[in-house]
Amino acid sequence: MKRVFVNGYGSIGGRIAQFIAGDSDIEVLGVAKYSPDDKVNDAISRGFGVYVPKNKVEQFKNFRIAGTIEEALEKCDLVIDAAPAGTGYTNKKNLYEPKNIKAIFQGGEKVTGDKAIADLIFNSRVNYEHAFDKKYVMQGSCNVTGMGRILQPLKEKYGKKIKRFDATLLRRWADLEDSKTEVKDSIEWTHNPHHNDDVKNYMGKDTPLFLRAFKVPTRQMHVHLMDIRFNETAPTSSEILDLYKNEYGVATLYNAKGTKDIRDFAETIKFSFKDTNMIHIHADLIEIQDDVVKLTYSDDQTGIVIPENHLLMQAMLFKKKREDAFKHTEELFHMEEKKKLLEEHFSKK
Ligand SMILES: NC(=O)c1ccc[n+]([C@@H]2O[C@H](COP(=O)([O-])OP(=O)(O)OC[C@H]3O[C@@H](n4cnc5c(N)ncnc54)[C@H](OP(=O)(O)O)[C@@H]3O)[C@@H](O)[C@H]2O)c1
Repeated sequence: MKRVFVNGYGSIGGRIAQFIAGDSDIEVLGVAKYSPDDKVNDAISRGFGVYVPKNKVEQFKNFRIAGTIEEALEKCDLVIDAAPAGTGYTNKKNLYEPKNIKAIFQGGEKVTGDKAIADLIFNSRVNYEHAFDKKYVMQGSCNVTGMGRILQPLKEKYGKKIKRFDATLLRRWADLEDSKTEVKDSIEWTHNPHHNDDVKNYMGKDTPLFLRAFKVPTRQMHVHLMDIRFNETAPTSSEILDLYKNEYGVATLYNAKGTKDIRDFAETIKFSFKDTNMIHIHADLIEIQDDVVKLTYSDDQTGIVIPENHLLMQAMLFKKKREDAFKHTEELFHMEEKKKLLEEHFSKK
């Protein structure tokens, strides 16, 4: 049985560990903690062995830890790195490369320049098989993952008929459970958002995507305003919506008041972590003007990348056939059922 270690137990690492613990093809060896806080006992109470850095063992003397991170890495086949953005590079150099271990990194890392951790960004809709023989792969960030789910079906259907994708990203300020970050009363702009190059890494350099990003004071998801400009008269809205009917991880919703409305519904029907694990097209906002389709969708920042990590893990560890991997991920995440419940609740009245 393959053994997987989750290095980092924050918003993303905590979710990954809990979902993949239900996978009978692997054993979750444990999780890493770097701060001796309440989350150590949280992880232990959920049945995870907690491993800590060798040089911090003394700080954890009041906890029942399982060992050091260095020891855990000796015993595992793949590590899912869920470290704070940029730290994955240091981990790769200091831990994974010397120990010759496969690793999945998260979207806050880089795939170009001095601190690149891999050359491939994974998106299960676009390049599942490309991860088969890779030692290091980055799972795209939440926004980058969501954009693949929108752009790839459009590219496949309309190809060169599309002139440009002009996207404006409204990014959440912090996550729901992130009590350390104060949400400021401000709208901040991002210079050279990484999402542009990241999407092109897996969709092709010639993808005509032009993107700007703003951080807005909310903890409840991201919203993308995507204008799709055609070289001719744009398709109808029902043609566009039809394109996403059977897309994995894309729900088409009507009459949601806002992003919190969706998370509140997710909470009432007890989706884990109040996540939907998908993007939501807001069908009542779609507009067609001459050659342009104006599409609005929201992106569950914390949830969307978790099933993606599970798919990527299966590609890297087992080279599983794509359809088998999706079937297996479905057993843990129930994406079809979640999509159905969301679409029934937020239906066209
Ligand atoms: N949050 C999102 O919505 C989201 C979505 C998609 C992708 N991502 C990406 O996922 C990654 C993790 O983000 P996050 O939001 O989960 O961050 P987070 O909530 O701040 O959690 C980071 C975790 O990393 C641990 N850590 C500290 N130093 C570490 C090290 N050297 N190596 C490994 N782990 C270390 C921390 O441990 P202690 O708590 O014990 O100090 C903490 O548990 C980033 O690349 C981010 O860009 C985040």
